[in-house]
Amino acid sequence: MLQQYNPKNENIKVWVGDRLFDRHEAKVSVFDSIVQGGDGVWEGLRVYDNHVFCLDKHLERLEYSAKALAFDHIPERDYIKKAIFETLKANRMFNETHIRLTLTRGEKVTSGMDPRLNSKGSNLIVLAEWKPLVYDNKNGIRVITSAIQRNSPRHLDSKIHHNNLLNNILAKVQANFAGVDAAIMLDTQGFVSELNDTNLFMVHKNVIYTPHADACLPGITRGLVIEVAKASGIDIIEKNLTVNEFYNADEVFCTGTMGELTPLHEIDGRPVENKTGSNLRSLIHEKIHEKIYELGEKIS
Ligand SMILES: Cc1ncc(COP(=O)(O)O)c(C=O)c1O
Repeated sequence: MLQQYNPKNENIKVWVGDRLFDRHEAKVSVFDSIVQGGDGVWEGLRVYDNHVFCLDKHLERLEYSAKALAFDHIPERDYIKKAIFETLKANRMFNETHIRLTLTRGEKVTSGMDPRLNSKGSNLIVLAEWKPLVYDNKNGIRVITSAIQRNSPRHLDSKIHHNNLLNNILAKVQANFAGVDAAIMLDTQGFVSELNDTNLFMVHKNVIYTPHADACLPGITRGLVIEVAKASGIDIIEKNLTVNEFYNADEVFCTGTMGELTPLHEIDGRPVENKTGSNLRSLIHEKIHEKIYELGEKIS
């Protein structure tokens, strides 16, 4: 699925640093660490009917990532919430909105890799856009397995949600050339890690399986699926899984804030065949939707 430009976003206001700018004035310095080395952390959030979904969980992950990268002057959580709410209110965005929240290490005194060149503290960007769910959850998506692996903690820990996304982008490039929607990335041992942009689940004989969060991002939607399944008495197991097991699953779906729960209907040319008539994906999807307000924070 190729996202389209939405003219409704032409005149949006974007938070950069400590205030709002018009879309075409919203910029970072060429000395910013994000330009110099992709040295930033980020979150993708969604707004549902006046509420920001799982806001604290996202901000906690952002804080953990920034601490792992040893950022200076990480803004207080209340300050980030204020920046998000002000951005949404200025744009009158109370639903159908996606927020790309970025915290860069900030501006450097001269170009270079060394974080000691950063004397101004981190730089906060709140980019809120009108955006429907990115994937087609009714018809599902097709994927291939990429030759590009997901990083192991030995290389770059996938638990840090950083802006060095080039291995995921290379996997997506492969998917584009193959004419499919996304690419499965394996871990360094050859087990399935996740898609290039979302986490993966499969259902086989009424049990849900998902890879350990060793080489994938421990997604917030992934966490909710596990929580809701357990609370509903559905068997769910985290284990090492091969692509072969995914080929033979009854249901396969991916999860992420940008698309919620999306069915996969083809993997490497093999159709996903629901031999048992499983409806576990849609059941869990509905249960998560029932919690939208409980898990959301009201825009204030
Ligand atoms: C590589 C990757 N996997 C999975 C996800 C899904 O995570 P979440 O459910 O927290 O949106 C994301 C979202 O940013 C991602 O970048």
